[in-house]
Amino acid sequence: MRISKTFLAIALLLLIAQGCTLQSSQAPGPQGAALSAKPKKTYQDLVVGYAQIGAESEWRTANTTSIKQEAERLGVELKFMDAQQKQENQILALRTFIAEKVDVIGIPAVVETGWEEVFQEAKDAGIPIILVDRFADVPEDQYVTYLGSDFLEEGRKAARVMVSLTNGNANIVELVGTIDSAPANGRYKGFREILADYPLMKIIDSESGDFTRARGLEVMRSMMQKHGNAITAVYAHNDDMALGAIQAIEEYGLTPGADIKIVSVDAAKGAFEAMIAGKLNATVECNPLLGPQFFELALKVVNGEAVPKRVPSIEGIFFPNDALRVLPTRKY
Ligand code: AHR
Repeated sequence: MRISKTFLAIALLLLIAQGCTLQSSQAPGPQGAALSAKPKKTYQDLVVGYAQIGAESEWRTANTTSIKQEAERLGVELKFMDAQQKQENQILALRTFIAEKVDVIGIPAVVETGWEEVFQEAKDAGIPIILVDRFADVPEDQYVTYLGSDFLEEGRKAARVMVSLTNGNANIVELVGTIDSAPANGRYKGFREILADYPLMKIIDSESGDFTRARGLEVMRSMMQKHGNAITAVYAHNDDMALGAIQAIEEYGLTPGADIKIVSVDAAKGAFEAMIAGKLNATVECNPLLGPQFFELALKVVNGEAVPKRVPSIEGIFFPNDALRVLPTRKY
């Protein structure tokens, strides 16, 4: 009797153990889960809307090329719109992409403010937004990630270079980018942050040249008329405006790069040519070749994979001594 009780207990335990094994082998493992989950999209399934700002600079053209070439290389269906530097056109582009039910939207916001309503419309439609290059001042839940440069740091770098070029003593005129744009705001602020420690570094004038060469020329012409030989340095928020300024300085009869030190941002080919000619003293890099990183993020986002909220680009500073060596390898 005692033996049969023990036997029964062992048999019972064996049965329970077997039950557990059966249960666990029936539960969905990694494979089972994959079968029931939504199939992952590939680049060939992706439909992406990109609301480009315009074609205001060498930088912007390079950014457009990078996005278009990478879409083609990966087989992504790209819906591309050029907003001609107008926020209302970018908003219209976003609404078009929402109506077309794209998978994801990329946008370099022409200015920082005024996006909440349309971003909310995209969110309500379940379409994620990736901020590319320029930040938009919206609540964190209205965009999935921001891929681009650290504009504040670019401003700081430009200031440090300017201090060393002028031995901490200069009368600077500043050509600001598009008013209320993220790069103009960051480069303006970062530059002043560093200059605050150098009382002899004075910004004697500051005006927007809208990131274009034509406006840079126009603004610099009027600054030359206003301040003449008092100007000893130019800080341009991009290379295109610096090239316009160089022309205005030459027209005035001074030598850019020598009489007036010039520092700009972007590191586009035109800046390297100007450095080789001795007319520009330094350019802080801002990388427009964001296509590969952008589509990688887009695919992850539509497949529900985690992405960091901020993806910074890696950038350097270039001087005339680097120019001859670097120019042939420059892609923009
Ligand atoms: O947002 C990046 C800036 O936009 C570049 O520095 C400028 O050249 C462009 O137009």
